[in-house]
Amino acid sequence: MKILVTGGAGFIGSAVVRQGIHEGHIIKNIDKLTYAACVENLNSICDHPSYSFEEIDICNGSALKKCFNKFMPDAVMHLAAESHVDRSIDAPSAFIQSNIIGTYELLEASRNYWIKQGQPIDFRFHHISTDEVYGSLGKSGLFTESTSYDPKSPYSASKASSDHLVRAWHKTYGLPVIITNCSNNYGPFHFPEKLIPVVILKAISGEKIPIYGKGDNIRDWLYVEDHANALLTVIMNGKVGRTYNIGGENEATNLDLVKKICTLLDELLPQEKPYAEQIIFVPDRPGHDQRYAIDPSRIRNELGWRPSVTLDEGLRKTVLWYLENKDWWQALQSREGVGSRLGSIK
Ligand SMILES: NC(=O)c1ccc[n+]([C@@H]2O[C@H](COP(=O)([O-])OP(=O)(O)OC[C@H]3O[C@@H](n4cnc5c(N)ncnc54)[C@H](O)[C@@H]3O)[C@@H](O)[C@H]2O)c1
Repeated sequence: MKILVTGGAGFIGSAVVRQGIHEGHIIKNIDKLTYAACVENLNSICDHPSYSFEEIDICNGSALKKCFNKFMPDAVMHLAAESHVDRSIDAPSAFIQSNIIGTYELLEASRNYWIKQGQPIDFRFHHISTDEVYGSLGKSGLFTESTSYDPKSPYSASKASSDHLVRAWHKTYGLPVIITNCSNNYGPFHFPEKLIPVVILKAISGEKIPIYGKGDNIRDWLYVEDHANALLTVIMNGKVGRTYNIGGENEATNLDLVKKICTLLDELLPQEKPYAEQIIFVPDRPGHDQRYAIDPSRIRNELGWRPSVTLDEGLRKTVLWYLENKDWWQALQSREGVGSRLGSIK
């Protein structure tokens, strides 16, 4: 399949591109190369004849149009977005631009191209979204594909808006779309401002390990390579107009997650004191959702997808990767905002 991937220099996009190339797809990656992008994530495939890259902002409709006409994709996998909740609290504007306006421009470019091609029924516009659009769960229950939208942060509200636009382009214009909503990802190449890499890097540099609030917020963690595999399964076999929730069925409180990472570090990089002694509690994020958990039965039953690793297995691989790839994360630590507390409204 010839796939146009947006945001392929980011954390999940780069996993999709690497896996997609290995599976034999022809991939063009378009990315604006924001602070969150890292082209080094693609070193393993960047010289592959089936891979190409162009620096494009998805808000630039005319650049998108040229790109579609030249590359002529069979499918679009749309991952480009501003993705960090804390940054969305400090500066929501970029989230509105890239996540809402950018998705609109991409939908229009896709629709015009699709019409020009004679509206092929097997064209796909796959929008990659988050479970955060559903808001927060109480102690029990799971997000299903029919859970009502109730986003709480500027990030999740911008993603919810983009989901609505994608559904509208399907209902109104017949564009063959699929939406996936996924739980929290983790794994290699995770940008060092997100919880798991922050914990690993603070721990090994002897700094305090900050936990928001009481650390009792619950997330459902999915290893990034498993998410990429789910996305490539959906683009090949998913049903048009359908939404698929993707989750790891790996719920953990933030405190338990951080303790697991500390225990792994105690084993893999022992120091005098247990790493857990570096944990401190800091004021919570405003509007911090209490619990997310996905019911992945649709993608499991209809498409036969399930995650390949448990949280413990995935965390071990991730911690080892960060210990073995210092050059990668050290180069990113000088990027604006990395290492400082964001999103705490003064
Ligand atoms: N990280 C998660 O846990 C998670 C979970 C579910 C869904 N998602 C969704 O998956 C997608 C990818 O997430 P991620 O964690 O890889 O994000 P990321 O921040 O690591 O990467 C995003 C990429 O998009 C690019 N980008 C941003 N704005 C752009 C624009 N205007 N034009 C072109 N490129 C632009 C960035 O340069 C970057 O390379 C996002 O849509 C996100 O909402 C993420």
